[in-house]
Amino acid sequence: MNSLLLQILDPIFGRPRGVPGLIGGAIMQRGNAEQEAWAVEHAELSPGMQVLEVGPGPGIGLALAAEAVAPGGRAIGVDPSRTMRAMARERCALHLAVGHATLREGTADDTGLPDASVDAVISVNNVTLWDQQAAYTEIQRVLRPGGRLVIVHHRHTMNTTPEQLHEELGKAGFEEVSLDVRGRSLNRAAVGILARRPA
Ligand SMILES: C[S@@+](CC[C@H](N)C(=O)[O-])C[C@H]1O[C@@H](n2cnc3c(N)ncnc32)[C@H](O)[C@@H]1O
Repeated sequence: MNSLLLQILDPIFGRPRGVPGLIGGAIMQRGNAEQEAWAVEHAELSPGMQVLEVGPGPGIGLALAAEAVAPGGRAIGVDPSRTMRAMARERCALHLAVGHATLREGTADDTGLPDASVDAVISVNNVTLWDQQAAYTEIQRVLRPGGRLVIVHHRHTMNTTPEQLHEELGKAGFEEVSLDVRGRSLNRAAVGILARRPA
């Protein structure tokens, strides 16, 4: 994508803020729900687990993850956008009230979570916004040994090829890295990458 378009889209989708961010959130909660569900389905979640969602935006995946780890578990959303955290807080109000979800300010490279504290990490449509090397180090730090990483992204908004991302995760020390590129009837292709912190 060219840099002018990226600048225009940044307050809507990249770092959502103000009215443009609210409009972006409304678009994302409809348009990206299938990707969020795919990420949760592939995260090997079960009741009692702790799962981190990086960049949950309006909170569709965070709510699904909270349902997948209840009872006894917790879905933790970390997002730098106050606008997105407010939307997610509204969507996940019940899960937050009973402790099946929490939301905090942070980024992929600075989650604020303790070492080896989560069983899985998911990310939908934000890996391109990360400081990637620092984020991979942070994700390996917070994932328990053997824990699952699921990264999902629209193919047409990626700034690398899916194969490059796959290769980078291997170089960053993740194991069992696999790549899935799915055609969709109502949108362009979706990329899904599964990986694991070494046991
Ligand atoms: C395009 S939205 C995707 C939201 C949602 N996951 C979806 O697919 O609908 C990108 C999200 O990533 C968040 N974000 C931006 N920079 C980030 C970073 N460095 N680390 C984590 N999240 C980030 C944004 O605030 C926003 O909520």
